[in-house]
Amino acid sequence: MYDVIVIGAGPGGYVSAIRCAQLGLKTAVVEGRETLGGTCLNVGCIPSKALLHATHMLHEAEHNFATMGLTGKSPGVDWDKMLAYKSDVVGQNTGGIEFLFKKNKIDWIKGWGTIPAAGKVQVGDTVHETRNIIIATGSEPSSLPGVEVDEKIVVTSTGALELAKRPKKMVVIGAGVIGLELGSVYARMGTEVTVIEYLKTVTPGMDGEVQRTFKRMLQKQGFTFIMDAAVQGVTTTKTKAKVTYKSNKSGEVAVVDADVVLVATGRKPFTDGLGLDALGVETEPRGQIKTDAQWRTNIPGIYAIGDAIPGPMLAHKAEDEGMAVAEVIAGKAGHVNYGVIPGVIYTHPEVATVGKTEAELKEEGRKYKVGKFSFMGNARAKAVFAGDGFVKLIADKETDRILGAHIIGPAAGDLIHEVCVAMEFGASAQDLALTCHAHPTYSEAVREAALACGDGAIHA
Ligand code: NAI
Repeated sequence: MYDVIVIGAGPGGYVSAIRCAQLGLKTAVVEGRETLGGTCLNVGCIPSKALLHATHMLHEAEHNFATMGLTGKSPGVDWDKMLAYKSDVVGQNTGGIEFLFKKNKIDWIKGWGTIPAAGKVQVGDTVHETRNIIIATGSEPSSLPGVEVDEKIVVTSTGALELAKRPKKMVVIGAGVIGLELGSVYARMGTEVTVIEYLKTVTPGMDGEVQRTFKRMLQKQGFTFIMDAAVQGVTTTKTKAKVTYKSNKSGEVAVVDADVVLVATGRKPFTDGLGLDALGVETEPRGQIKTDAQWRTNIPGIYAIGDAIPGPMLAHKAEDEGMAVAEVIAGKAGHVNYGVIPGVIYTHPEVATVGKTEAELKEEGRKYKVGKFSFMGNARAKAVFAGDGFVKLIADKETDRILGAHIIGPAAGDLIHEVCVAMEFGASAQDLALTCHAHPTYSEAVREAALACGDGAIHA
């Protein structure tokens, strides 16, 4: 008899299992993949970051080395070797989770689980008994009508991470996080990348100024954008594809050719085969599992977290829920502050965001002030060709309390956490502005944005 069986070993599930074990609960994890870590470690965040790093190095060599007096033959791309490097990075990380499971005495039940009843998880012919079940089965790419994925010519993010060869022309459907990160990988290696997006802006939901700046920067890196257009269908031959799209404004239909088409139009909860219908687990209209504020489903003893429930589909949101639900099960007060969940896009420059956007605050009718600082005024950024971009800090007009931050620029994904901590402590912009920041660092730009919320930035 286990105290907890977690189904799914992605960032939500494995983190939850470790916290359960640390809190003294007898814990097992059911995972059908050959390796632990779920989408994030195997075919998502981690392999894409390896390819983003490698291709960014190539970009630096091709564009900035000569300026810095670094001369000599430019590096070429050995694609197979780059893929091997990526696989090695994945292996180190998935192996690390296996080590952590052993260290924390967590059983890995290999196979795909179903829940025949509360308190039971079946894997193959064996039924395991448990007091609590945590569903952490994550998500899978959404399908698009008229587009059939073969993971060779028409790929999801999974196929895009191991293409047989580098395409000359790639069409990306969807200007969201996946499309722009993986599009960047290929654009940096010389692929002509065309992004077709349904909306008028890239990265839906983000700060408008960030969206416009980001799109302009990507265009400078060679991206072509076809905005405000709906993909109608994709046809393929043995080696090529044709993508048909229709302009939302004019209704005109056009076709673009590609060697590879990346479908990046969002993800949906992956709960197939769990037996949720038979159990009577309630779901939301869009298929996510319905839970209360402490991740309980309507069936006692069954909890759900991560991409399988509503909220941003982010590894770190799942991790936080995983830790918190473990604490709830152990009788403690598990809590997640959904108002302070950062979002990061790992392109170059990085984009990072937390809290409210101006558009959201306008809609709420809340009075706010904005402190903005360009990386052009940051000495460190200029030294590394990263002066493009800015930090925008938003604070309450009356109280000066920080309400959000939107950063596009060097190391934005790290800088954002200073603001996250400040927000968790209910800090004012002035609190950040009065905090000494080491010189020369990118973080000074965050301080300057905070100063700009008050009497003014120094280097503006
Ligand atoms: P997304 O929701 O970020 O973007 C999908 C885009 O596709 C949207 O802009 C949407 O308007 C567009 N779209 C939808 N239907 C379309 C159509 N028929 N024609 C043209 N455009 C269409 O989804 P994405 O990029 O697939 O990512 C899935 C999830 O994975 C997201 O929730 C994302 O947050 C997460 N993710 C996060 C990463 C990170 O944190 N760095 C990295 C990769 C994924």
